[in-house]
Amino acid sequence: MKIIMLGAPGAGKGTQAKQIASAYGIPHISTGDIFRANIKNQTPLGKKAKEYMDAGNLVPDELTCDLLMDRIGQDDCEDGFVLDGFPRTIPQARALGKALTARGESIDFAINVEVPDENIIRRMSGRRVCPSCGATYHLVALPPEKEGVCDACGSELIQRADDSEATVANRLQVYHEQTQPLIDYYEREGVLKTVDGTQPMDVVFAQIKAILGNEL
Ligand code: AP5
Ligand code: ZN
Repeated sequence: MKIIMLGAPGAGKGTQAKQIASAYGIPHISTGDIFRANIKNQTPLGKKAKEYMDAGNLVPDELTCDLLMDRIGQDDCEDGFVLDGFPRTIPQARALGKALTARGESIDFAINVEVPDENIIRRMSGRRVCPSCGATYHLVALPPEKEGVCDACGSELIQRADDSEATVANRLQVYHEQTQPLIDYYEREGVLKTVDGTQPMDVVFAQIKAILGNEL
């Protein structure tokens, strides 16, 4: 099953994508996570991506598309994948469509996690992430057992560099200008499904499971 997660920054795409990946046995592919790993390892790609990400702008399509196409060409993607944070522009969506068509494949579901802007600001300010294992928490909605410490690996939790209020405001603007048009794009493709992302995480996941059913 090939799934795309759509939604504003902080809508809960990553939270849901991880659950989908584990329930359906397909890889979770987050372009944001791939860029952050490259920044951490100080690779040439990471150095290029950092300035865009820190400002809350999109990394240019030419850097992002090649990386994603390589990733979905790997063996573990044969039975499908869940894409989180890609595509984010119409050219990215077209590039993905072209690559899949060449393989005789297509996207099965584009799941739009809908959350109004005012909730987004609250979500982002409370988000804490583990720099070692990538686990995500929220100070109110999903606190770790011990304050400031990752339940999974014991590392100290941090706030993401792009979760400052000013950067979040820019990310939201970029989302509305460049990414929201993808909702109409996938509607026209006949694969768009919308879920109410303001609900608690398990309720959102139940909505998604009802859409995906038992298909593989
Ligand atoms: P990326 O990492 O993709 O960030 P994003 O899209 O802004 O999304 P987030 O990771 O911020 O949020 P999310 O929707 O996954 O929410 P989460 O589940 O964490 O991209 C970062 C940057 O990389 C971009 O700005 C860009 O520069 C670059 N980039 C990446 N991909 C790119 C591309 N394709 N092209 C160009 N540039 C690209 O949840 C948020 C918080 O809310 C958490 O604390 C969580 O615990 C909590 N939460 C989740 N669900 C709920 C709920 N139902 N109720 C209450 N709290 C909840
Ligand atoms: Zn951890």
